[in-house]
Amino acid sequence: MKKTVLVGVTGCVAIYKACEIVRGLQKAGLRAKVVMTEHATEFVNPALFRALTREPVAVGLFDDAPGDPIHHISLSKEADLFVIAPCTANVIGKIANGIADDLLTTTAMATTAPLVIAPAMNVNMYESAANQENMATLKRRGVRFIDSESGYLACGDVGKGRLADPDVIVSEIVEMIGVKRDLEGKRVLVTTGPTIEPIDPVRFISNPSSGKTGFALAEAARERGAEVCLVAGPVALDDLPDVETVRVKTALEMLDAVSRRFDGSDIAVFSAAVSDFRPKDPSASKLKKDACDSRLSSIELVENPDILATMGARKHAGQLVVGFAAETEDVVENARKKLVKKNADAIVGNLVGDGKGFGTDDNEAVIVTHDDVVRIPLMSKRELADAILDWARSNQA
Ligand code: CTP
Repeated sequence: MKKTVLVGVTGCVAIYKACEIVRGLQKAGLRAKVVMTEHATEFVNPALFRALTREPVAVGLFDDAPGDPIHHISLSKEADLFVIAPCTANVIGKIANGIADDLLTTTAMATTAPLVIAPAMNVNMYESAANQENMATLKRRGVRFIDSESGYLACGDVGKGRLADPDVIVSEIVEMIGVKRDLEGKRVLVTTGPTIEPIDPVRFISNPSSGKTGFALAEAARERGAEVCLVAGPVALDDLPDVETVRVKTALEMLDAVSRRFDGSDIAVFSAAVSDFRPKDPSASKLKKDACDSRLSSIELVENPDILATMGARKHAGQLVVGFAAETEDVVENARKKLVKKNADAIVGNLVGDGKGFGTDDNEAVIVTHDDVVRIPLMSKRELADAILDWARSNQA
């Protein structure tokens, strides 16, 4: 479950930077919801934030929020953290003095979540006794400030009052809210989905892998700061934002895509259910069953290259290679055999069949390494993804 950051946006020229803040929070794996003052809507239409967040944008205290008669209370409870960025001198003053006359300031008063303020205003307003006293009051009450920078201001003056850099605001929030960014600077490669091996233009050999595990791994790695490449066989899942997604069909195409990217990766996770065999001579035209075409009743197969084993043989020092073993029985024993045979550092073994594994949202698994077996209880694919990345992080030099 993603943590929710409520982003309060007030009427100020720096409002355009709030878009970057929202995007940065999303990239870091947080859910961003926006509440705006009426003045803010003079600068930017709420539709922009609605499109960016894919969430309703709250403005008026008396607006009809669908199914929600007391909007400021539900918003204040939903938030794990409330950041107001940019925050004008006016709104700082209102909050410091207990004025709650619109949705944003009422929510700020009602919330028990940490409140963070990133001020943006003219230098003289910033330095005014009123603003300084208001900020000091709020700091005393535990409000965290991400202070303004000095520089050229929209009004033409030069001095303190410029909104802090959106990246700084995002990283401070991420730190406060406790999201792990332990894969920053790492490159993670993931394979996922099935492969399909054509018999003719309308028939193929494949398996029912949904690709959900690999997509969950890619999403988790990205949220933990990694640069991620996902090589996916045919699956019904949309590209993930900020993840390089390479769509392939066959095992040979998957091998080619992986081979081009493997050497540059720090962690490679092979969760794809690659077809072990492919038809030796796929027909360029549709085979007809009426013609008793022998190429339909008996298909000659050739073995596909093992992508994990090929990369396992090629891995360099410091690189971690994780494979999967979907088994109907003897999971640990089979996983251990694959670990050795494919020169992996870990094999995630799980039971499939009988309603387990393929296409489901939950998984029970074991992480088998050369000297350990870690049992992972039944958990969502996303939690399993994080457990695998936790293992990889703690075992990488
Ligand atoms: N794998 C691969 N390329 C293949 C076959 C498998 O990269 N041609 C990878 C899978 O992505 C997985 C691991 O190898 O990480 C084990 O896959 P699995 O199908 O369980 O094992 P196989 O080696 O195919 O053995 P078997 O099907 O006989 O159990």
